[in-house]
Amino acid sequence: MLTRRTFARLAGAAALALTVAMPAWAEPVVIKFSHVVAPDTPKGKGADKFKELAEKYTDGAVKVEVYPNSQLYKDKEELEALQLGAVQMLAPSLAKFGPLGVQQFEVFDLPFLMNGYDDLRKITDGEIGKSLLSKLEDKGIIGLAYWDNGFKVMSANSPLRTPDDFLGLKMRIQSSKILEAQMQALGAVPQVMAFSEVYQALQTGVVDGTENPPSNMYTQKMHEVQKHATISNHGYLGYAVIVNKAFWEGLDPAIREKLSQAMAESTDYANSIAKQENEAALAAMKAAGKTEFHELTEDERAEWVEALKPVYEEMSGRVGADLIEQVGSTLGTTN
Ligand code: LMR
Repeated sequence: MLTRRTFARLAGAAALALTVAMPAWAEPVVIKFSHVVAPDTPKGKGADKFKELAEKYTDGAVKVEVYPNSQLYKDKEELEALQLGAVQMLAPSLAKFGPLGVQQFEVFDLPFLMNGYDDLRKITDGEIGKSLLSKLEDKGIIGLAYWDNGFKVMSANSPLRTPDDFLGLKMRIQSSKILEAQMQALGAVPQVMAFSEVYQALQTGVVDGTENPPSNMYTQKMHEVQKHATISNHGYLGYAVIVNKAFWEGLDPAIREKLSQAMAESTDYANSIAKQENEAALAAMKAAGKTEFHELTEDERAEWVEALKPVYEEMSGRVGADLIEQVGSTLGTTN
């Protein structure tokens, strides 16, 4: 049966086939690239770099329209829009692929999984990264690249030094079951919420706190409505850059090659700035003086690690014990 979704996808592909077959003076192929963060973030800058390079390398045969700050779609809607062909490109957080049925990406959400960007690279650049992206294909999506953001801080209006401090706090999370289990293991009450709604929810007390890489916290001004934050680096937030499969495969191969080159270069660029963007955001928030930042002592960190250990066992069915094992052996953290 031809579902509404399949029909829209086919219609999109047919329209595209017409576009690429048109002569040089015809309208350019348009790529709508929607995202939920501010332009002045690693993802925002990566998207803008892709636009610049894609338009340059294709001599204007492709036009990239970047829509930041959930202007077009919020988190869940943007994935549906991509599948329907209403937008062509996105870079959702790896924590947001569960509703699409590719929950294995949530492995990146496991608490204290990685010790910095070098560990991250071993996963994203290796077999695991490749195999995770390939799981998107039967959802009508092609995974083009991984873009970095950073390691998260926990914030609230009360200090978060030990797991006891989380008891009963309502904490906003992305739509990941692992993040849900993480907050529950700390004694908090997780609440899934679209990114675009977090600032207001914090401001009005709908939730007490949240977790973010500094760059997101700063550019959404969350530091203005959170009195405390702990630089726990307990988890990672980053992205998969994805494209509608029918659109991508319907492109003229020469154009697709140029876009692939633009993507490879904008990936290098985005990943080269993520760490420093987050460091600068943290420094700016410290300077603003609205949030008090706390560094975990060794003992406090050990308490967090201990409290969060059960999440691995509890969630092994969700992402697969074999995947967790593979990540552990890639990082050299399993014996
Ligand atoms: C969040 O919802 O907190 C993040 O996924 C936003 C983003 O895209 O970085």
